[in-house]
Amino acid sequence: MEKSTEVLAQFATALGGEKDLIGAGGIASGRDVWRKLAVGAQAVQLYSALVYGGPGLVRRIKRELLEIMRAEGVSDLKDVGPSV
Ligand SMILES: Cc1cc2nc3c(=O)[nH]c(=O)nc-3n(C[C@H](O)[C@H](O)[C@H](O)COP(=O)(O)O)c2cc1C
Repeated sequence: MEKSTEVLAQFATALGGEKDLIGAGGIASGRDVWRKLAVGAQAVQLYSALVYGGPGLVRRIKRELLEIMRAEGVSDLKDVGPSV
């Protein structure tokens, strides 16, 4: 999660919004998704955590993400990004 988010942030800075980016690598929670979006991803992808969390993982991540959005006062994920 740390390394892939760092590389994602470098890509986001280098591209300056020129391309949409998919954040991938180590995502297992709503907080992880939030962090990928916060450094510049427009979408996320995950695989490994499904092995441990099962199909219910997506619902849990969505719930956690909603809790973070409420806490941060964000109503649209489009508003989450490096400028937030
Ligand atoms: C078992 C397994 C098989 C995968 N197969 C492919 C593949 O064929 N092509 C591809 O582009 N990515 C593949 N991936 C990468 C995933 O699509 C995804 O980008 C990556 O696993 C995300 O990181 P995470 O596993 O930490 O969530 C695979 C990942 C795993 C764990």
